[in-house]
Amino acid sequence: MSGDEDELLFRRYRMLQEFVGWQDEDAASLRRWGPRIESVFPSIVDDFYDRIRSTPEAMNAIREGEPQIARLMSTLRLWLVELFSGTYDQAYVARRWRIGRRHVEIGLEPSLVSAAMSRLRARLVEALRQATDSDPGCDEREGERVLVALGRLLDLELAIVDQAFREEFTRRDQQTQRMATLGQVAGGIAHELRNPLNVIKTSVYFLTNASRISPEKMNEHLGRIERQVDLANEVISAVTQFARIAALERSPVDLAKLVPEWVDNHCLNHTIVRRLELARVPTIQADPRQLQIAVGNIVRNACEAMGVGGELSLTLGEIDRHIVLSIADQGSGIPPETLRRITEPWYSTKARGAGLGLAITKAILDKHGAELSVESRLGSGSCFTIRFPLAPHASGLEGTVGRASIDAAETSAPRTSGADS
Ligand code: HEM
Repeated sequence: MSGDEDELLFRRYRMLQEFVGWQDEDAASLRRWGPRIESVFPSIVDDFYDRIRSTPEAMNAIREGEPQIARLMSTLRLWLVELFSGTYDQAYVARRWRIGRRHVEIGLEPSLVSAAMSRLRARLVEALRQATDSDPGCDEREGERVLVALGRLLDLELAIVDQAFREEFTRRDQQTQRMATLGQVAGGIAHELRNPLNVIKTSVYFLTNASRISPEKMNEHLGRIERQVDLANEVISAVTQFARIAALERSPVDLAKLVPEWVDNHCLNHTIVRRLELARVPTIQADPRQLQIAVGNIVRNACEAMGVGGELSLTLGEIDRHIVLSIADQGSGIPPETLRRITEPWYSTKARGAGLGLAITKAILDKHGAELSVESRLGSGSCFTIRFPLAPHASGLEGTVGRASIDAAETSAPRTSGADS
């Protein structure tokens, strides 16, 4: 795990600490009582591994038999000592996360870890009760306090383990999805390349086999070949763009500064009037290179939808803890029945184009946790709105009433005009 990830994880841990009502006094209380029950740790560890030995599912994870168990027993003892150390800082959380990760790697079921934690909890509560009850200087409140502190701490331990499992399941899920997408993408590429190749083949056949070709016919076929090569190239560029959106390289992005540059790069038609109303908004943590692709695809579509003339309006502002960027055109608009399907890979609304532009845009925005929605009226134009959450965990659920909110799961639509790259 990188330093950044450690920090993110720790921030989340602090949030959960606050949620459970964790106080400095909890840490102090655990630090006070830990050494008083250390003598029982070996018996707790013995009990823990006796239970593992008698549980076949748990033993499946033990590949090296008793020597491994002996090693694990001493790591569990150290784990217990650290549990009562009273220092629950970033390094502590990172170490605990790595232990959680180790259990994920060995294929342990999360429920087994929870059950094991429950067993440890019961034994630790029992040990603490005995220690506080038998200490004449310890009043009832102090006895209760350390138990509450232990309960909170163990719940937080489970939250770390849960996070490690959840990340793994998300990773596996994404891998499955990627494989499914790969099949879809490969089929799409084959289909999109076969068309131009067939046309080229026909023209080449004609040029090589025709006995007498007029210069006009020759030019017509050469022109056709050139156009089809361009088309095949477009397909390849779009696929390459898709392939490049692997990992995000985030940095602070000042949209008000970058958006005009992106418009210049992607709206090459100078008959189109540009109206930019870009308020100064807080920077967002984003990958500027990928965002340029995402926004550029929308801008290019908007300009192409207008043909010659029209107004391209970009508005940037902060609304309800979101940075909102709207891109509106005065083009032909998108029919309502296809509005919700335009981010599907290989769905093209233009006579020429691979149909990957908005799918790429959607994929990039998804990775940024941003939401894409679109409003469109036939004959008057379309408005694409991107909402970036300001806080790391902002949900971005509100604000899409009366629009089509584009869902990555929605797929498949016929070809129409005006919304694709
Ligand atoms: C909440 C309960 C548990 C705690 C606190 C715990 C603690 C630990 C610790 C501290 C490590 C060492 C990680 C490292 O430094 O790489 C570890 C690894 C491991 N644990 Fe657990 N564990 C728990 C539950 C379980 C359960 C139920 C099993 C089932 C067999 C298990 C099996 C293992 C195995 C196989 C390893 C890898 C050891 C190795 O690398 O040889 N653990 N555990």
